[in-house]
Amino acid sequence: MSITLIHPAPDAGWAGQRLDGVLKCALAGREVRTVRRAQELSGLEGQRLLLALPLGDTGVNLEYMRMLARLRKEPGLLRGCAGGLIVDGAGELYTKSAASEAALALNLAGCALVGRPLVEGTGSLANFAVQAQNLNTDLMGAYRAAASELTDQVEGFAFPKKERPQVLVLHASSHHTSNTMDLWARVREGLEERCAIHEIGLRNGTLSDCSGCPYTMCLHFGEKGGCFYGGVMQDEVYPAVRAADALVLLCPNYNDALSANLTACINRLTALFRQTRFYDKAVFAIVVSGYSGGDTVARQVVSAMNMNKSFYLPQNFALIETANNPGQALALPGIQERLEGFSKHILDTLCL
Ligand SMILES: Cc1cc2nc3c(=O)[nH]c(=O)nc-3n(C[C@H](O)[C@H](O)[C@H](O)COP(=O)(O)O)c2cc1C
Repeated sequence: MSITLIHPAPDAGWAGQRLDGVLKCALAGREVRTVRRAQELSGLEGQRLLLALPLGDTGVNLEYMRMLARLRKEPGLLRGCAGGLIVDGAGELYTKSAASEAALALNLAGCALVGRPLVEGTGSLANFAVQAQNLNTDLMGAYRAAASELTDQVEGFAFPKKERPQVLVLHASSHHTSNTMDLWARVREGLEERCAIHEIGLRNGTLSDCSGCPYTMCLHFGEKGGCFYGGVMQDEVYPAVRAADALVLLCPNYNDALSANLTACINRLTALFRQTRFYDKAVFAIVVSGYSGGDTVARQVVSAMNMNKSFYLPQNFALIETANNPGQALALPGIQERLEGFSKHILDTLCL
């Protein structure tokens, strides 16, 4: 398979040579088509993509901004693509936020993202300290190695479909009044015949947030299939995540973020992540905001579950709606069609 490199030119005054060097190494010997300008972002459906983004110290790249506008305006632009990102900055800030913004835009334009799709080069490359030590190389060597590994993964990855996939649903809402739960109930109806569905509610008091144990202690508990705190995470969530082919996160917008219980659950997945990777498990989300900010919450899911915890992000991974009063979500114009479309999309992604 060949790679399509989306590589917006850096702004004047920022040469982006470090990223050029990394790409030269990662793409050596591969068949590569390169897109440098927003108007060239056409006819890419079904391709394997690498977005290589030189940011400079302001976190801004004007040609990339034009690309972002196109991705957001044309939802089918990257239909059937799968990809990853390399984001290179001149300072210590903005690489992560630019990456999560780009990841969501790629995804909503139809591009799936492999688990751990981001290679990030901060100005100092200090973010490669641990990897460099593990590989017995310097920071630049670790950066190059990560970019090559990501390129291999993007080129070769195929999500495994199943006859009857297991879908794990995590939520922390009240069944009676929640718009998010209302939408899920309808999506569930579309899945029941072909998937085994397991729902776990993480309400107040059922789980403690990660206690931030030292790495070796987390590893020790993780290897035994548990975590320092035990409880619902150890008894119910870890076994259910191990068994699942896909997670569906139900995400009401609480203060422009995931709810505390869901965040605590994701933090506590760290112990499981210490001993296993989730590349072959997909993550979907239903995001409902009362007024605005659905993209902020969706980006949080991308950052935490796909970029950090290594879950596969299927194209158009989230149903994102705005509704506040009880019952309002199910009365939104066109909602029935979108719910049916989302159920079908989950089935198409997971089922043979
Ligand atoms: C603690 C709390 C914080 C909230 N913060 C926001 C917010 O920042 N922005 C917003 O648009 N809606 C906010 N909402 C409204 C919910 O997103 C809204 O009720 C939506 O329908 C999803 O919640 P539900 O599934 O519980 O109905 C908040 C609701 C609660 C309870």
